[in-house]
Amino acid sequence: MLFALRISVFALAIGDAPRRSPAQDSSLTIAVIPRPARMTVHTGRFRLTADTRIWTDHASAALGARFARYLEPATGLTFVLRSGGPQPSGGITLALDGSLKRLGPEGYALDVTSSRVRIRAAEAAGLFYGVQTVLQLLPPAIYRGAPTEQREWLIPAVSIEDAPRFSWRGAHLDVSRHFMPKEFVKKYIDLLALHKMNTFHWHLTDDQGWRIAIAKYPKLTSVGAWRPETLVGALQEDSTAWRFDAQPHGGFYTQSDVREIVAYAGARFVTIVPEIEMPGHSVAAIAAYPELGVTTYPLSVATRWGVFSDILNADSSTVAFMQDVLAEVMTLFPGRFIHIGGDEADKAKWKASPAIQARIHALGLKDEQELQSWFIRQMDAFLTAHGRRLVGWDEILEGGLAPNATVMSWRGTEGGIAAARAGHDVVMTPWLRTYFNTYQSLDSAREPLATGPATPIDSVYAWEPVPAELDSLTARHVLGAQGQVWTEYITGPKGAEYMAYPRLSALAEVLWTPRALRDPRDFASRLAMHVLRLDALDVNYRR
Ligand code: ACM
Repeated sequence: MLFALRISVFALAIGDAPRRSPAQDSSLTIAVIPRPARMTVHTGRFRLTADTRIWTDHASAALGARFARYLEPATGLTFVLRSGGPQPSGGITLALDGSLKRLGPEGYALDVTSSRVRIRAAEAAGLFYGVQTVLQLLPPAIYRGAPTEQREWLIPAVSIEDAPRFSWRGAHLDVSRHFMPKEFVKKYIDLLALHKMNTFHWHLTDDQGWRIAIAKYPKLTSVGAWRPETLVGALQEDSTAWRFDAQPHGGFYTQSDVREIVAYAGARFVTIVPEIEMPGHSVAAIAAYPELGVTTYPLSVATRWGVFSDILNADSSTVAFMQDVLAEVMTLFPGRFIHIGGDEADKAKWKASPAIQARIHALGLKDEQELQSWFIRQMDAFLTAHGRRLVGWDEILEGGLAPNATVMSWRGTEGGIAAARAGHDVVMTPWLRTYFNTYQSLDSAREPLATGPATPIDSVYAWEPVPAELDSLTARHVLGAQGQVWTEYITGPKGAEYMAYPRLSALAEVLWTPRALRDPRDFASRLAMHVLRLDALDVNYRR
């Protein structure tokens, strides 16, 4: 059944009027993304007007205020808010309801009739997702930042009971290769919330720039956040073909910026997973503090892409340095998960270094793989002792997985399968399906420079995050998945939005909606309406 239902009141009133486009009669179309787990459409609609009252229980007052703030810019209306006291029988109401525990911590029930809009949930996150659904039941113009010509604000009568399939529904953003301004990071988080995504993986450090201020080590940003120039065009193997743009590039987030963004995300039920790369992808850190490196020659912040052979050493002082960094990171980010990278750590310099070989011997390890594993274990023990959990890319399996590690399976699904079978949690991030820095169509000549091969939106939508190899017990270790936006070839916000959307809209549905309800044709018809929301929000999605 298609869920992009045209409610028939309009058609009944005007008989055989020519079929209108969603843009013209969008107030009568239901097109919620991600598709709710259970929805019944009734006749009638609720009319939002200047007289509409919003009521919440005591605990949900802040959510009521946020809801009003969502509605006010486009409608130009101001809503009367009331919290506590008896629940009114009409208007918009938001209330926690312990009897809905069966819908889980993020589930909600929504009932819309001609006289009321009632949102109930066991926990605040569920109420927030109920609000997101109400916004999507309104005309797309509700997302505009200023009053519009839309005259009627109608919400079709529905009953919905909804809850997510996975608990980790996310998107990553690389702000190292190209720095992304704070206001854009907030917009990125807003878009995640609109899609009922709950995790933002913030890739804060890499070879080409260190982007988070660390008070104890100021050179990480005074030196590590800046590069004098950047490679132009695609990375060629032939270094004589490299051309650089002569444009300094950089930037970083102060700890006050980070606190502001963390609070902003928290108010939208988005948890931030910060990533601090180690022991590879660390050129910017070594440029700032050469004593972290293996070689003695000075390094500069990287100005081109690719995997570098420069790597952290494994001295106790380097381990302590990175733990100091993580200690500050933990004061800024309240979420449980801290990402330590771990990917693409080229071991050649470790192999060639007598000091590293002596270290491997002294630690009683077999080889460089075990040294990487040892290094990650130091971080795992440190984070675990502080009540946090380590996440790393799937290379952290090599040489032995740290006891409490969660694995992001990016090179394929094998890492995720191996980790889940070993009893570890996994987040599925296979590059062929979830890397949104790849081309969006097979006709790459018509697309902005990207990474190949293509990952068109239909292949994202068709993807099943739980590998077929896992039985139902081990499949429980698949927490969910996320889309990746690596920014080597994405120089700013517009480009990031172009690559992320609408592919993230498809992934949001993969991660929220029961598998049996996923239907590509139905999704495509809802997406036609959904992009009007993205238009209203000035999102530069790929058309
Ligand atoms: C990765 O793409 N190197 C995680």
